[in-house]
Amino acid sequence: MSSETITITDNRTGATYELPVQYSTIRAGDLRKIKVTPDEFGMMTYDPGYDNTASCKSRITFIDGDKGILEYRGYPIEQLAEKSSFLEVAYLLIYGELPTKAQLATWEFEVMHHTFLHENMTDLFRAFRYDAHPMGMLISALAFMSTLHKEAGQVEDAAVRQKQVFRLLGKLPTVAAFAYRTRIGRPFNYPRSELGYAENFLYMLDYMQQSNYQVNPVLAKALDVLFILHADHEQNASTSVMRSIGSAHADPYSAMAGAAAALFGPRHGGANEAVIKMLTEIADAKQVPTYVERVKKGEFRLMGFGHRVYKNYDPRAKIIKKIAYDVFGVTGTNPLIDVAVALEEVALNDEYFIARKLYPNVDFYSGIIYQAMRFPPDMFTVLFTLGRAPGWLAQWLEMITDPEQKIARPRQVYLGHDTRDYVPMEMRG
Ligand code: CMC
Repeated sequence: MSSETITITDNRTGATYELPVQYSTIRAGDLRKIKVTPDEFGMMTYDPGYDNTASCKSRITFIDGDKGILEYRGYPIEQLAEKSSFLEVAYLLIYGELPTKAQLATWEFEVMHHTFLHENMTDLFRAFRYDAHPMGMLISALAFMSTLHKEAGQVEDAAVRQKQVFRLLGKLPTVAAFAYRTRIGRPFNYPRSELGYAENFLYMLDYMQQSNYQVNPVLAKALDVLFILHADHEQNASTSVMRSIGSAHADPYSAMAGAAAALFGPRHGGANEAVIKMLTEIADAKQVPTYVERVKKGEFRLMGFGHRVYKNYDPRAKIIKKIAYDVFGVTGTNPLIDVAVALEEVALNDEYFIARKLYPNVDFYSGIIYQAMRFPPDMFTVLFTLGRAPGWLAQWLEMITDPEQKIARPRQVYLGHDTRDYVPMEMRG
């Protein structure tokens, strides 16, 4: 065997095992050779939350959490945020290379010409109660779409997969806008495919028959950059769900409904909504030290802080903080920014946060921008979903076409009862 191996000695038996190492990784299946008796199952790893387990080989997104680096297909997020557009980044994530001018034009045309929803979906939105959370509506709409596009289940057919990519990217902003309009009791605006991606979305949200209506270009640009920043983040909870459901060869609408449900959680994409609740509760920068003390006592977590991977400033948070001031130039400032800046300053200088390497993450400032743009807090995670969709699709396509992938099926360490006999009701305590 080459020197790229690791030798493990089992102190229970004295046996040694030489296992191959590739990419600083051993194959978990190789551990199964390690046993005390021949009839036992063999060694596994125990890894709640998959903290240190690679479930796939990927060529899409690179993160160095200690250095605060994020790259899509090798391109630094800072350069993409400054120079690219969301649809170009979506193309990059999905196909692996930046498009030529002609490729980009075709791609934009295809996505923007898959924006209309089946009219039956308008009935779906009408079925929700007036106060339904838009994420609940979006998750339901994705599942509904799987009933409309039945061929989507042919996941081994590349042309069918491609069609669903256009549909999902094209229709999601319409779904999000319809959810919003339902929420505020206004009529739906149908998509306008000649507009830009973020521009069309803002139009569908806001248009009320005004003459000379125009989407503010600064706000459309800010939203486009925010979508870029959210576009992929390798094997996070929602992406793992997308891959996991996809590994069972469910159609991508069903897989994305699951991914969106994971994103909804306050420890994931729901954090931006939670940050606004927190900053509103603190209300005044003077209250920050008291609030931080309560966090340190373990009463609750500081939302928008900490990350499973980043143990440094989240590079997306730095870019977002800058965009906030561009948006305030149009909307006027959001008073919560002062509370956020004070909170960040106190936390970054506090031993509790330093020792645990807790820094602001992408959600810390995004909610403040969305609020300044007059999005209600329950729309924030919907915006995250629109941004993350190309990442989910890129990861799903990579998984489906990877010959090494199998149905996702983790093991467990069983600590329950040994076999026992059924106890009739009259004999139970
Ligand atoms: N506030 C206070 N303490 C924290 C926080 C926080 N936000 N995050 C982690 N800790 C502490 C935690 O209590 C633990 O302390 P101790 O070692 O004393 O028990 C230590 O830091 C490690 O925490 P962990 O839960 O083991 O870390 P994790 O990697 O499992 O959790 C996280 C990552 C994002 C779930 C967590 O940091 C968190 O709950 N943050 C707040 C929610 C949030 O902002 N989420 C958005 C993440 S970025 C966007 C996205 O991915 O969707």
